[in-house]
Amino acid sequence: MLNVVVLVSGGGTNLQALIDSIDNGKVTNVLIKAVISNKKNAYALERAKKHGIEGRCISPGDYNTREEFADAMLSALEEYDAGLIVLAGYLVIVPEKVIRKYPGKIINIHPSLIPSHCGAGYYGLHVHESVLKRGNKVTGATVHFVDEGTDTGPIILQKAVPVMEDDTPEILQRRVMEQAEWNILPEAVNLIANNKVYIENNLVKIRK
Ligand code: GRF
Repeated sequence: MLNVVVLVSGGGTNLQALIDSIDNGKVTNVLIKAVISNKKNAYALERAKKHGIEGRCISPGDYNTREEFADAMLSALEEYDAGLIVLAGYLVIVPEKVIRKYPGKIINIHPSLIPSHCGAGYYGLHVHESVLKRGNKVTGATVHFVDEGTDTGPIILQKAVPVMEDDTPEILQRRVMEQAEWNILPEAVNLIANNKVYIENNLVKIRK
């Protein structure tokens, strides 16, 4: 059984997709031990509570230094015996100390086809505004391992969706979430939980 801790900041629709995929059997060998948010009023915490999953707030603003925040995060992850940390709409930079402690065990869902429209400042609607401004005909989502960079770790899964001429950032975000994010995040967690994923020369390989 893979103990998963999900880090969130907002609405938690990706968390919900993972919860639902576990319930309907699409994702196996996974136990969500806890949901941790940097925002105490994040609706994602409400989703966790409704499902009987422990939720808590660990916010950088509650600590005097980044180091203390990192230590609080580390002790929580150890408490839950995390085997996989899933960033699902998590808007805080993960402290390097945490990344070093969990090499190859932190994944993130980004709402574009990396390496396009990613990196510092590319989050939420900003991503989709950038896609529309550039005139992309397709966009999508990426699940990748988290390394010390921003959206730079090895890519696990991607899924493309069309960009329509009359799209607004909000309409495009919704399509990317519904048709891409909510599919590939649970799929990536399932592959990892069932030992189907490995990294070779910094590239992700999937066992058939
Ligand atoms: C969405 O823009 C999603 O693309 C990104 O984070 C935002 C909120 O996601 N991953 P969620 O509804 O909190 O999962």
